[in-house]
Formats: sequence, C-alpha cells, structure tokens
Amino acid sequence: MRQKIVAGNWKMNLNLEEGKALLMEIIDANLNENCQIIVAPPFIHLSQFGTMLNQSRISLAAQNCHQQELGAFTGEVSASMLKSVGVECVILGHSERRSYFFEDSMSISYKVNQVLSQGMRPIYCCGETLMQRQENQHFEIIRSQIREGLFHLNEMELLNCVIAYEPVWAIGTGETASPAQAQEIHSFIRKTIAKDFGELVADNISILYGGSVKPDNAKELFNCPDIDGGLIGGASLNVDHFAAISHSF
Ligand code: 13P
Repeated sequence: MRQKIVAGNWKMNLNLEEGKALLMEIIDANLNENCQIIVAPPFIHLSQFGTMLNQSRISLAAQNCHQQELGAFTGEVSASMLKSVGVECVILGHSERRSYFFEDSMSISYKVNQVLSQGMRPIYCCGETLMQRQENQHFEIIRSQIREGLFHLNEMELLNCVIAYEPVWAIGTGETASPAQAQEIHSFIRKTIAKDFGELVADNISILYGGSVKPDNAKELFNCPDIDGGLIGGASLNVDHFAAISHSF
C-alpha cells in the first residue's frame, strides 16, 4: 500500500546533545498522524535515538550504510549494525554521496540488497543535475539510476523500497522544482516501474520529492497525484517547519 511519508534528512548537522534536544521536540510535536514520520540523524546518534524512539511511531533512518555484510572496511557501518540499534530505513544513493563520495548506482544496488536482507527499507534517491536537465537528459538519467539501483529486485522487494526524487539543482539552493516538474518525473518513475513490474507495483510504491521543501511549498507539491511526501533537508532541523510540512497533505 502506497504510504504518505515525511522524512527528515539531518545530513551532517547537530551534535548528540543538540540532536537529542531536537528529537525530544519532534516527539512532543503535533505531527500529522496520517503519514509516516521518519528521522535520519547522523550515525553517531542512532543508538540513543533508537532507545528514545522505542515506544514512538516515529521511524528511525540512517543516511547510508556499507555494501558488504561485514569485514575489514575501516570507518564503515553495516546494515546489520544499523538494524541492531533500531534503524528501520536507510537513505541510499543521496546525490551528495553520489557526487562527493563517488557512489554509483551499481554499488548502491548492493547497499539496497544489504538493507533489504536486514528487513529494513531503503529510501533510494535519484535526481539529475542542472546541466543534465538543461541538456534534456533528465528522463534518461532518472531511468538509468532507478534501473541500475533497483530493477534487480523482485516485486516484493521493490515494494519495500521508497524512492526519493531529488533534483540536484533544488537541494539546499532554495530553488524548488515546480509541482509540475516534480509531478512529471514522479509519473515518469511510475511508468518506468510499470513497464518492468506492472501497474500494481508502480501504483503501490511510495515516491517522495526532495529539494528545498518548506512549509510554504509542501502543500502544492504533496497535492500532486504521484508525490507521496517529502525527503526534507534544511527544514527538518526546525520542529515547527517539520511539523507544518507533515500537515501539508
Ligand atoms: P534541502 O531540503 O535542504 O534542500 O535538502 C533536500 C535533501 O537533500 C534531502 O535529502
């Protein structure tokens, strides 16, 4: 069943004390009960957050994991480690990881497998750069990103994934894709999925929009028929903005 989701990607912000304070505010906030709320803090917060969210309906997400199960990979964190502290979802293939850490869709597909094998949900990000859009390559880029990252899965596995469309030119820039631009890509993603997996799978997968979502533009984005919520960066660090965005359906 397609779910409405508002997920906060905190990126590399807030130390543990600051993070705990914000999480307490989020726990106490008036959040929309009709959508799933997800919080993705830095790795170092996850263990304590897992305890703090034990009785809560807020889900905990990580921002990345390693593609191997375990072993000599200094500095890395495995999917099973995330699972062991209460993580339910893992953001994978964020454009910041693709561009600054040279991740490609193939290696991200292995991470998808790790996350699914632990019974967690990947939040698989895709999105084109400004230059790719200007050169009219955006459909091809999105198609290859989701094909390479997700199309090796079976139907049930794919339905356990969430897709996030985040145009790189709209991330942290204050420039949002217009509802029409976002809807066009979300509908294209569904059609691409429908071709290989059928309409039922395409209709039931949740596709989030990310890129400068704020309380004042969330409603028109979330009103689009193929947009099931948002992956929120900057605005997720402010409890009032995050709560207001959750009420934008
Ligand atoms: P902003 O909302 O800060 O643009 O970030 C979006 C994002 O990258 C979420 O993953």
